[in-house]
Amino acid sequence: MVTLAALLAAGGASAAPGTSRVTVLATGGTIAGAQAPEGGYGYKSGSFDIKDLIAAVPNLDKLATISGEQVVNIGSQDMNDEVWLKLARRLAEVVKSPGTDAVIITHGTDTMEETGYFLDLVTKTEKPIVMVGSMRPATAISADGPSNLYNGVATAISPGARGRGVMVVLNDQIDYARNVVKTNTSDVQTFHSVNRGPAGVANTGVVTWFAPLDKKHGMTSEFGIDGLTRLPRVDIIYAHAGMNPDLIDAAVKLGAKGLVIAGVGDGNMTAPALERVTAAAKAGVVVVRSSRLGSGIVYRNNEVDDDKLGLVASDELNPAKSRVLLMLALTRTSDVAKIQKMFDEY
Ligand code: DGL
Repeated sequence: MVTLAALLAAGGASAAPGTSRVTVLATGGTIAGAQAPEGGYGYKSGSFDIKDLIAAVPNLDKLATISGEQVVNIGSQDMNDEVWLKLARRLAEVVKSPGTDAVIITHGTDTMEETGYFLDLVTKTEKPIVMVGSMRPATAISADGPSNLYNGVATAISPGARGRGVMVVLNDQIDYARNVVKTNTSDVQTFHSVNRGPAGVANTGVVTWFAPLDKKHGMTSEFGIDGLTRLPRVDIIYAHAGMNPDLIDAAVKLGAKGLVIAGVGDGNMTAPALERVTAAAKAGVVVVRSSRLGSGIVYRNNEVDDDKLGLVASDELNPAKSRVLLMLALTRTSDVAKIQKMFDEY
């Protein structure tokens, strides 16, 4: 009879001793979270240290030599520019080190798509960077963190991972950070690359790759963090029936250098809101029209005359990712035509 202990000792499909060196940069999230006592509902993210998480994954050491460090330990709802810059700086050092072949970043799933896209735009390396989180806390029945971490490491050390930039591994699926979106509040299959499909699959450590990312990122990205101590303020404003333009004016008054409208449909908004974003654009605030919908493309000059109004269309990027790109774009230029080109290329 095959016992559970024997199965664990066999280490799934990749039982060879691991010679790849993987550095884990931990930031917290549910993967490090502890469930409420006695199986009650709710949990506290960012409760466990990375060393505990690594130790909880059977046979991880057979895949690779793992070292871990805790960069921060927070729920990713508290992720901010300061932590992004700190994490990006540490990541840049780690990928430069000859002692690291690949990097895992553990992170809460709520804002993983933003952090991942930010890191993909500013990190110059061919070495694989894989973000891993979980939907269930470490102490939950059927916690998904250990298998996500195992598959994340298997993905990171896979020969096909080089040059693919920052990826997200969750529930056996590999997605490019640029494409991935969290789509469900609690489902373990929450991440989807809604417009394009996944980068590959990772099943019990066996990795199958699909098409590479054909957008500028990583080595081909013009963005970096040298000399940056903060990022330009960019606010997201959500459109809806009866949208009042007051929040647009308030954001501009409070110093926003850029605005992203989470528009209805194809990046649309009420006539008064359109009038105020046009005024903001004329005053030098860069305005990107994105969509509050879960998928699709916001086309330039479709229903809204972007050329005439001086606006940028987000193309495929949802509001959260548009904000990331716009913040970095504004560190380089405030020229609307140049920024539109960035939204077409990244
Ligand atoms: N607070 C959320 C976060 O850290 C929990 C969700 C998660 O990690 O899956 O993003």
